[in-house]
Amino acid sequence: MICKSIEYKNYRNIEAARIEFSPHTTILYGKNAQGKTNMLEGVYMFALGKSHRALRDSELVRFGCDSAEITLIYEAGGRTSTLTMRIYDGHKRIFEKNGVRLTKLSDLIGNFRAVLFSPDTLAIVRDGPGERRAFLDVAISQLKPVYLGTLKKYNHILMQRNALLRHAKAGGGAPAIFEWSEQLAECAAYIAKARSEYTERINRHAKEFYRDMTGAKDNSDGGDLMLRYRGTSRIGGDYSDEARLRSIYLAQFTENIEREIMAGSTQYGPHKDDIEITINGHEARLYGSQGQKRSIAVAMKLAEGEVSREESGEYPVFLFDDVLSELDYIRRRYVTSGIKGRQVIVTACDPATCRRMSQSQDGIYQGYSYYVKGGTAIRK
Ligand SMILES: Nc1ncnc2c1ncn2[C@@H]1O[C@H](COP(=O)(O)OP(=O)(O)O)[C@@H](O)[C@H]1O
Ligand SMILES: [Mg+2]
Repeated sequence: MICKSIEYKNYRNIEAARIEFSPHTTILYGKNAQGKTNMLEGVYMFALGKSHRALRDSELVRFGCDSAEITLIYEAGGRTSTLTMRIYDGHKRIFEKNGVRLTKLSDLIGNFRAVLFSPDTLAIVRDGPGERRAFLDVAISQLKPVYLGTLKKYNHILMQRNALLRHAKAGGGAPAIFEWSEQLAECAAYIAKARSEYTERINRHAKEFYRDMTGAKDNSDGGDLMLRYRGTSRIGGDYSDEARLRSIYLAQFTENIEREIMAGSTQYGPHKDDIEITINGHEARLYGSQGQKRSIAVAMKLAEGEVSREESGEYPVFLFDDVLSELDYIRRRYVTSGIKGRQVIVTACDPATCRRMSQSQDGIYQGYSYYVKGGTAIRK
């Protein structure tokens, strides 16, 4: 997958800019608060269907304006396509592919695939289970549109069921709870199975990346990385049989109904699940060093790229926002040497840091660089 160009109009602090990307590496460099992250956010928007950092679409419209537009041209499977995102009336958003309006988010997601690595990515390892579930949901949705649809349905049913539980708690009874439980169990089984399979797949790659990254001499933080999907204990780690999962979930929803009414919310299901991340058997979140956590996050993101390639035959576009300076030399060297054959768009304050990334074996720099200043991008 190659991102060929992007054009912004009144997006964030960018009044008007156009960037043409190298098939290898494109560097966006410049001082702080100039628009580098905004530009990457604009690219990633087409992979995610929303901003990875704005709470509301209105934040994406340039101050004082009423509408914003981004157009991305990319190549996948030998075909060139155009994606457009438009925000109008200050906050209403639409996407188009080749001029045709996409009515569902699942029609957009999966067309343009990208993997983003930013300083916030560390949260996958450092923070609570919600971050890891979001990681899985975003990654799997890019590969399987059905997954995204089922997840939306699950969340909808969950809300309905929770409302009913609260109603029952207030003494109103819980009519039709069994039907909601059945529907919830069905979606839950699909989601948990897909997440567990995906976790197994990234585990294989992440393990290897981690070993390579940390196995170098005079680097002592190596170890055996293991990622495992962890849900309800009654499932016991085997997510292979969807019918079995469905009946376990339904049994849990039914047997614990009193407890759930007391709590006023659904106590079991994929919305409670997690990825267990261990190094040599110890939970990385609790016992890992800052450096180990960072390496794990990098390994997981690179693994996401590998699985995406296995599925579609092409690497996604790799977006590195402001992270290279944070990696120590060994990690940086590893990440950069592993990057050949993949398109990379990277932001940095100091362009020299990332220029090394895109040197071919004979030392020739292959790529474009842009100096970003006040929302403009000047080709250097
Ligand atoms: N909707 C908006 N309209 C105008 N400027 C914005 C908007 N949203 C963010 N900005 C500005 O964008 C700048 C931050 O850009 P960013 O891409 O995060 O910088 P960096 O180059 O450090 O990555 C800030 O100066 C901020 O005020
Ligand atoms: Mg930034």
